[in-house]
Amino acid sequence: MSARFQAPRGTFDVLPAESEQRARVYAAATEVLSRAGYGRIETPAFEDTELFRRGVGESTDIVTKEMFSFTDQGGRELTLRPEGTAPICRAYVEHGMHKLPQPVKLWYWGPYFRHERPQAGRFRQFNQLGIEAIGSDSPLVDAEAIVLLDELLRTLAVPGVRLRLGSLGSPEARAAYREELRAYLRKHEDELAPEVRARIDQNPMRAFDSDHEGTKAVMAEAPTMLERLDGEDKEHFEEVCRLLEHAGVAYELDPTLVRGLDYYTRTVFEFTCDELGAQSGVGGGGRYDGLVAELGGPETPAVGWAAGIERILLALGEEPKVTPLDVFVVAADGQRERAMAAVTELRRAGFRADLDLAGRSLKGQMKQADRSGAKRAVVIDEDGTTRLRDMETGEQEEIALGGLVEALSR
Ligand code: HAM
Repeated sequence: MSARFQAPRGTFDVLPAESEQRARVYAAATEVLSRAGYGRIETPAFEDTELFRRGVGESTDIVTKEMFSFTDQGGRELTLRPEGTAPICRAYVEHGMHKLPQPVKLWYWGPYFRHERPQAGRFRQFNQLGIEAIGSDSPLVDAEAIVLLDELLRTLAVPGVRLRLGSLGSPEARAAYREELRAYLRKHEDELAPEVRARIDQNPMRAFDSDHEGTKAVMAEAPTMLERLDGEDKEHFEEVCRLLEHAGVAYELDPTLVRGLDYYTRTVFEFTCDELGAQSGVGGGGRYDGLVAELGGPETPAVGWAAGIERILLALGEEPKVTPLDVFVVAADGQRERAMAAVTELRRAGFRADLDLAGRSLKGQMKQADRSGAKRAVVIDEDGTTRLRDMETGEQEEIALGGLVEALSR
């Protein structure tokens, strides 16, 4: 018996009807982001493994558990990109983009790879669209980035969207806060989930993410980073909030917002969708003022976000459908050349036109025209007589073959 294959676990095929939906999301993103001065960037699907170790962070789930890494034939350690921010910062440094007027505003769209447990809305190969604005520490850039994701989700009419907003402060303030949080967690060690206890030293803030009841009770009383914000961090955050209010973007303050990547400083945010269930994150991001320098570039502040395209489509909940044809050309046996010429002429004139490619009888072709959803059919008889048929009413009129485009434009 011959072998039968399936798409690997956690991956999926995009069929034509679904592809049309994606094209609509892509068109909306192009419109919203290019209007705001963002240029499209594409980077490779794989990078040096070390880029993600450094960029995303050694202690994150992404780096410790979820990377598809391999050694190539030349002995290089490579990884299918789990996210886009570190690669784009790599490209910013590699192409000397710090010499351009700042900030450099980039947007992207493409496949990303994480070895996560597959479930509704969570895949091992998924698609993200995102932006990175590199080279300014102004709160205007944070606000503009958030407004743009809000605008995109509005344009697409994604229902039930909420924006959660927080700040992690500067690395120094965060380090001081983490020490305070560690001390607090140690005091309550007995009440915590074992995996939270094991991470007190490495990543105490992940405790806010836990579903464990005891941990949740402890975390409800824990000090938060938002309460500890001061000086310029506090001013920056308050300005971002004010700018969002002026732009008419509603948000909820979330003092415990934790993102799964280590590079964030100051502003962090997440858009969730109530319709999505467990995997409710539609898109998220924040400021990452240390990443470009961490990757060997000059000290460069930056901010960005990424949104999951499959999550957007799930939230929209539309039935995928293929746009029907405008016209189907039906031709008797001896009239195939005429049919081909007619279809070509119609396509050139901008009609969605098709013809039988499977040697069907006239009757079979009429059935095919019906199934195609075309509003009209052009029927070329054996003697070359050409008729235009309204597929809904069945009405027909004879037309000159040379007058096809004109007749269909009426
Ligand atoms: P992230 O939150 O890890 O951020 O991913 C962004 C979005 O990608 C999520 O909100 C979700 O919609 C989607 N996503 C993530 N993992 C999966 C998955 N396994 N299956 C389906 N969709 C998924 C980042 O990746 C950062 N690079 C965002 C960023 C850009 N921060 C600053 N600039």
